[in-house]
Amino acid sequence: MKKGLGKTTHHKACVKMLPTFVRATPDGTEKGDFLALDLGGTNFRVLHVQVKEQKVVKMDSQSCAIPQEIMVGPGKQLFDHIAACLSKFLDTQNLKGKTLPLGFTFSFPCEQKEIDKSILIRWTKGFNCSGVEGKDVVKLLKMAIQRRGDFNIDSVAMVNDTVGTMMSCGYPDSNCEIGMIIGTGTNACYMEDIKNVQRVVGEDGQMCINTEWGGFGDDNALNDILTEIDFEVDRTSINPGVHTFEKMISGMYLGDIVCLMLKKLAEEKLLFKGQVSDALRTPGKFETKFLSDIEKPRSGLENAKRILNSLDLKWDLTDLHVVQLVCDTISKRSADLCAACLATLANRIRTNRGLEKLKTTVGVDGTVYRKHPNFSTKLEERVKELAPQCEISFLISEDGSGKGAAMVTAVAQRLARQSRLLDSDDDGDNS
Ligand code: GLC
Repeated sequence: MKKGLGKTTHHKACVKMLPTFVRATPDGTEKGDFLALDLGGTNFRVLHVQVKEQKVVKMDSQSCAIPQEIMVGPGKQLFDHIAACLSKFLDTQNLKGKTLPLGFTFSFPCEQKEIDKSILIRWTKGFNCSGVEGKDVVKLLKMAIQRRGDFNIDSVAMVNDTVGTMMSCGYPDSNCEIGMIIGTGTNACYMEDIKNVQRVVGEDGQMCINTEWGGFGDDNALNDILTEIDFEVDRTSINPGVHTFEKMISGMYLGDIVCLMLKKLAEEKLLFKGQVSDALRTPGKFETKFLSDIEKPRSGLENAKRILNSLDLKWDLTDLHVVQLVCDTISKRSADLCAACLATLANRIRTNRGLEKLKTTVGVDGTVYRKHPNFSTKLEERVKELAPQCEISFLISEDGSGKGAAMVTAVAQRLARQSRLLDSDDDGDNS
């Protein structure tokens, strides 16, 4: 983390610690109508959101599928697709005539130059569109909208999903200073003292930092704990060598890790009487949601039978218990690793403030955290153990990527309004 924040060490850091230009959490005075886009999780979504009286209300939203060939095709095609979905949504909402500000939740590592200038460092998860890395995503979106010419947007705020998640929890709990995602990918952001963010000018106040903790280990720092299965998952992924930590933790990979482990146990004649089925040899066939089904307290064994049958595997009762143990081991490892990083973040906030004890809240989202039957308990217990001086509460974010993006845009507008007010006060003083 220190490397990522440092001026001269940043370029070598694998935990990037990216400034987000979000300098404040909501104070309750934000208001207005906003559009939000959410790209990078399970679905692509367009939303219309209203912020008023300390509430964020989703007026309407639409999910659009992004076909696989667009996810790995030319960037221009991706942005044209996004602009087309937005256009269709504005039509159905009768919003084409209005020029609304837009919050864009773009859940990939970006070097943000300002709230509305955001350069994609690299694609992660299932995306790999050509011609986007190294480019300003806001420009690419605006160009696609211009190519259509049938609607316009006002100012744009770029938001990582972790930031949206933190911000969307800011109204129910103003202590919320960390945002965490454990879903398709994993990552966290937190409020850092600006004086420690050496690449940003300024001494006072705070700025939200997108840690991109998924990249931890890309410098081989985790090699001692990586297994041969982790190396294989990385080797067969669409982005080998990057986001090492994410590949041990997040929903995109957990199913494949378990699958490879079951295959290995079967090959060593410790499972399924030594039989391996074609399904077990095929990446993606053992879905991450199977871990949740198999670990369910009451229905777990029945679910395991059904799933193993669907994968053409012949099992006995001992096999079922071994499969349950494998799932539990892998999801527990994932929770432990997240807990270690979360404890580090909380302790950093505590020591930044010179506090003996810190009370703080983490806004959380992501399919693994939400849907797995005991992932959250495993994680919360481990964090308590690892950060005994921090009292951490967890708040599940309600639509962080959608509402949170609107919230970031609203806070940015409030700050701009306030600084305009200050400017005009200054003018007054001078005259
Ligand atoms: C990946 C992305 C990161 C995002 C996370 C969760 O790690 O690089 O930006 O926050 O997934 O969606």
